[in-house]
Parts: sequence; structure tokens; C-alpha cells
Amino acid sequence: MKRFIIVGAGQAGLQVAESLRRGGFDGEVLLVGEEASLPYQRPPLSKKYLLGEVEAPRLLFRPADHYAKLGIACHLGVPVAKLDKENRIVYLADGAELCYDRLALTTGARVRELTVPGAGDPRVCYLRGLNDAENLRVRLSQARRVAIIGGGFIGLEVAAIARGLGCEVAVLETQSRVLQRVVAPVVSDFFARIHRERGVNIQLAQQVSAIDATPDALTIITADGSSVVADLIVAGIGVLPNIELARASGLLCDGGIVVDEFARTSDPSIVSAGDCTMHRNLLYPRPHRIESVQNAVDQAKVAAGTLLDHPVAYAQVPWFWSDQYDFKLQMTGISTGYDELVLRGEPEKGAFSVFYYADERLIAADSINRPAEHMVSRKLIATPGGCYPKAQLADTAIDLKTIF
Ligand code: APR
Repeated sequence: MKRFIIVGAGQAGLQVAESLRRGGFDGEVLLVGEEASLPYQRPPLSKKYLLGEVEAPRLLFRPADHYAKLGIACHLGVPVAKLDKENRIVYLADGAELCYDRLALTTGARVRELTVPGAGDPRVCYLRGLNDAENLRVRLSQARRVAIIGGGFIGLEVAAIARGLGCEVAVLETQSRVLQRVVAPVVSDFFARIHRERGVNIQLAQQVSAIDATPDALTIITADGSSVVADLIVAGIGVLPNIELARASGLLCDGGIVVDEFARTSDPSIVSAGDCTMHRNLLYPRPHRIESVQNAVDQAKVAAGTLLDHPVAYAQVPWFWSDQYDFKLQMTGISTGYDELVLRGEPEKGAFSVFYYADERLIAADSINRPAEHMVSRKLIATPGGCYPKAQLADTAIDLKTIF
């Protein structure tokens, strides 16, 4: 009987396993994961879970018996120590050796850690996995002053939660605006404003030089000589793809595990999908790596198709979201390289969209509390050509659906 192994039991890993079964694979499917938990949803960790509105069991994608029913064997809580692709063997850290016919690497990403002096204090926390979230939830409930390093998605979502819990909150961001990696200045300014209006001390262009830890407090020292005192620090300064296993085995890696539009790595028996991949998407001229639930799911389906010898090329417009207070930011497309922006609605009123153009082509859109516009934008961006009259997009009197 054929055996397919999936390394990495996150959203992409689970999707590969389920798609293999849905696609009729009747061999063995082994899902191997370092984390002890069955695959769970990560996005609520920085949102409802931290607030205490949802508990860990509710985050599981599927109950345990689902895996048994589908014949997906889970080896959880043990990292893979080595991959021998020449002999098609996966070595687990507990000594187990698993042979495979085909392999999927869905190893995801991990947090980038702060390296300044003092950053090793246990009151300096991160947020990526369920363990991190459990730790942070307890610490947040005991903290009065929270300092957040990084004004990206994690930093701002945690800031909103910490304010909701009544903490004093400061956010220190190295760039001159929040969310700079992904959104236009008008969106950054909007989010900085709503946080400031709710009492968050947002400090931009701030370099953290050190953390002075005493039993009573943590003092963040910045490069300009100022300081921020806190009981708890949360660092959300980006993630790194988990590519070490792949690279050590000799697979081609370049800012991610390199895969083509069929999710194929440089080894014909191995596919890869999700946050760990530097991948080809036929809608884009160059390979890219993104952190996205959509990509984890859709690319995993492509990977499963390839494993089943039914290759279908990956060509999907990515989408992402972030929840902060009562605001939902929904993004679609990749805005990198845009040369013109079209604003629809008024940021002052708390609901608007921003459309990104490059060479007169619509390439991305961000919608704030405009879910219908986000859904239409996904279709507009996915449509070949993608030239839409900017005046119509900007005119809130025109229903976007009518121009599609
Ligand atoms: N000090 C302060 N800010 C920093 C530092 C630093 N030393 N290093 C990086 N930053 C800032 C970046 O400028 C950026 O604004 O931290 C922010 C990190 O933001 P993201 O790249 O969005 O990463 P993060 O918020 O950690 O989220 C990681 O998790 O929820 C997912 O999809 C989400 O992709 C995101 C991922």
C-alpha cells in the first residue's frame, strides 16, 4: 500500500490530508506534527481566544474521531528531526523512522524573536501557536501595563484586546507608520487613529535598544533615550518560514521552500504548501511567500492534486483579514508595486475601501467594515484585464456589483 506523509499539522497539512481522501487516495495518510494539538484555527488566537470568548477545544478544525473516520493517522507532539529524501525516510525526534512514497511539507512559519538585551525575560511574550496564546491569555489577565513591540497585524490585534481588558497599552513600531508592510498610508493612518482614540500610545519610528527587567517591571529603552514601562511585553515583529528541515535535506529554498505552480518542490516526490513556501501563482509574474489562510487552503488543494497525479496549476487571488475593536480589515490581492490609489468612502466615517492600481490595472483592495466591497473586489481582481474605471470605484453612489 502507498504511504503519503504530511509534515506539519496546521491548516495546510490538514487540507492536504483531507483533499487526498476526497480525491480518492486509498493508501496510508500520516499527518506528522510538532505541536501536541490536533490541527486548530490560528486566527482566533489573537482575537476571541485572548479575550476569553472561545476556548481551545472550539478552535479544533475537526474532532478526533474525524481523523479515524477518514483514515488519517496523526503523529503529534513530535518534531521531525531529519528528512532523507534519497531513501524517502522521515526521522522523528523520538527515534521513529517513517518511509514514504510521497511527502508534503506544510511546516508553516514561526515568530521572529526579539534579540535586544533583556528580551529573554519570560514576561516578553509572542503569539503564534496555542501554547503562546495560553501563556499570553493568563499574563494579560494579570497585567496592568502592556507594551507591544511591532505595529503589524499581531501587535495591533493584541493592542485592541489588551485595551478591551482595561490595560494601559503602548505600541512601539520601527517604521514611520503601522501595518506598513501591507497597506497604503491612508489605511495605516486610519488604524493608528482608531487605536489612539481608544487610548493606545502608538509610538512610530521607535527602535528598541534594550529591555531592563526587574521583578516589578520591564522598562523598554529606545534608541532616542526614551523609555516605556510595562508589566508585560508582547513582540509581534513578523515571522520566519520553517524551512530548515527542507534545506538540510537538500531541497531548494530561497526565502521559503521553493515550489512551482503545482506545489512541486525540487524533488519529484515532495510537494509543499502554505506559509513556508516561496511559490508560483499563475496570476503573478514573480514567486512570493505570503502568510494567509486562503493560501494555506488553496495551495494545499493544489499540492494534494499533484500528489494524486491530477495536477492543477495554482492561480488564486489571495485574501487576508484582521479584526481590531469593531473594525474588520479585509484585504485582497498583492499591493506591492502599486502606483495609484483610489479611495471609496470616507475613513472618518469608519467604513471605506482602498483600491490599488499598477499600470492602470487593479491589483489589490483593502476594505474596512465594507464586507460586500471586499467580496466584489476579489472578483474584480481575479478577472483578467482588470481595468475598471476609477471614477466608478470611487463613487459610493454606484453599487460595485453593477460594474462587475
Ligand atoms: N521593533 C518594533 N517594530 C518592529 C521591529 C522591532 N525590532 N521589527 C519589526 N517591527 C515591525 C514591522 O515594521 C512590522 O510593522 O513589526 C511589524 C510586524 O508586522 P507583521 O509583518 O504584520 O508581522 P506580525 O504582526 O508579527 O504578524 C505575523 O501572523 O497573524 C499573522 O497574518 C499575520 O502575517 C501575519 C503574521
